[in-house]
Amino acid sequence: MIKDDTQELLLSEAASFPSLLPTPPTDPIWWRQAAIYQIYVRSFADGNGDGIGDLRGVRDRLPYLRDLGIDAVWFTPWYESPLKDGGYDVADYRRINPQFGSVEEAEVLILEALALGIRTIVDVVPNHVSNRHAWFQQALAAGAESPERERFWFREGRGDSGELVPNEWPSSFSGDTWTRTTNADGTPGEWYLHLFTPEQPDLNWDHPDVRREHEDVLKFWFDRGVGGVRIDSAALVVKDPALPEIDPVAHYRQGEHPNLDRDGLHDIYRSWRAIANSYEGSRVLVGEVWLADLERFALYLRPDELHTAFNFEFMNQPWNEPDLRKAIDGTLAAHAPVGAPSTWVLSNHDITRPVTRYGRADSSFDFAKKRFGTPTDLAVGARRARAAALLTAALPGALYLYQGDELGLPEVEDIPLDRLDDPMHFRSARVDPGRDGCRVPLPWSGAVAPYGFSPDGATAEPWLPQPTAFAGLTVEKQEQDPASMLLLYRRALQLRGIEPSLLGETFTWVGDSATNVLHFRRGEDVVVVTNLGDEPVALPEHTAILLCSDPLVEGLLPPDTAVWLRTSA
Ligand code: NOJ
Ligand code: CA
Repeated sequence: MIKDDTQELLLSEAASFPSLLPTPPTDPIWWRQAAIYQIYVRSFADGNGDGIGDLRGVRDRLPYLRDLGIDAVWFTPWYESPLKDGGYDVADYRRINPQFGSVEEAEVLILEALALGIRTIVDVVPNHVSNRHAWFQQALAAGAESPERERFWFREGRGDSGELVPNEWPSSFSGDTWTRTTNADGTPGEWYLHLFTPEQPDLNWDHPDVRREHEDVLKFWFDRGVGGVRIDSAALVVKDPALPEIDPVAHYRQGEHPNLDRDGLHDIYRSWRAIANSYEGSRVLVGEVWLADLERFALYLRPDELHTAFNFEFMNQPWNEPDLRKAIDGTLAAHAPVGAPSTWVLSNHDITRPVTRYGRADSSFDFAKKRFGTPTDLAVGARRARAAALLTAALPGALYLYQGDELGLPEVEDIPLDRLDDPMHFRSARVDPGRDGCRVPLPWSGAVAPYGFSPDGATAEPWLPQPTAFAGLTVEKQEQDPASMLLLYRRALQLRGIEPSLLGETFTWVGDSATNVLHFRRGEDVVVVTNLGDEPVALPEHTAILLCSDPLVEGLLPPDTAVWLRTSA
């Protein structure tokens, strides 16, 4: 799509990119077992030296991503945004945040990545927009009861003078879910609903404009060659228009909770699937669906709805055999009837990094439990995170890898308080450290900050400070260390991409469940063993060791270690 000189320049640059323009990947079911790498643009790589990651930085690092062995990248929102919630407050879907680049550069990036066999997934946030979005600005200006306000949830307050919130819905970000507006004459006006921050007003999905606009946004990005869309807060989007109170102990009839998992959501995703299907090649819809009920979760994955959804059930589990086994079984059982592949996720830009989480007495994940000063043994955590990498990469289905986990980065827990940025921290009365600790700019090279995140000679500091511990974790350093996390991930993803047994979807447990060991067979001739106990265990019969997360000790698999074995078929 040539639009102007910049675009032509970028495309001619793309044409001279080494190894560009071979045949792009064509497998129509690539998404069933893809390894997908999540890029948080702001913190991946800074190409122009202003301390903020950008598309230039990503383009420069595409060969790194190819060498890692991934099939696709998922970009957290890269659109124009005031970044009040890290970009999940979208002001304009048809523009890229100018700090990151331009739509023209995104188009080139998509092409360059494809030429290296990497598809692009973009993020769409249907539940809300930024308060700087044109629709919300128009709604504020148009005043009470205007048609412009019907695209959102504006309501009169309760109480004698409307001084009380319209309802008491809770927020996943703690704090209020309603903010009162001020009328043009300075008097207090209507309230508007925001399940997240006040800068993220919720959209009214009963309004046809809201549906149409999102369908157009999907087409806008599909037309630019993206291979898929990740759908933010996918189960929260539809509301009961009466906005009734939520009774936390009530058992709602399925599909009738006031703002979660409502039946009306399925129509929306069916229409999105029809749009995705109307494009050549396969365009995948990935839902961020947080639902404890796995049967309800699986309904979103029926053949005419989303292709896949994130498996948070598995991610939330502590590092122990019974809980992980149960989550694997539950996941596979829930997906089987709808024929969708499972996904396996260890973390993302919202979650405490695995190296830190697995080093804690309570290694399960729960937003509500995040606190400053939780004791952590990073050596134990790192060992377990290596084993977890091999365990998850061997499970049948798609794999998500969050940037920096391949380097074994820990959660950064000593960011100075005055540098914290995440609304989850501020809205918790500052008791929750928030999500900045997993969003610190990546260390690429060198011994001092910015560790190659920004180009040599850049004077601006990275937008979040990097700890000195990053000196030992740079890509440059890990590339020279055969025992590094990076090389373990590279070998695992590369093998996973070529081993027929791992590419298939057959999975069978071996042995019983009372052993502290997860032992399963994949396909014809690969067996995977993860030791979650305190004692070393013997390896089952095998013809070769394909990959081990840490060295064997006297021929035994030590605690917190996983191994991929070749067996005779
Ligand atoms: C889920 C996203 O992953 C998170 O980062 C964001 O804050 C919320 N949705 C709200 O959009
Ligand atoms: Ca930059």
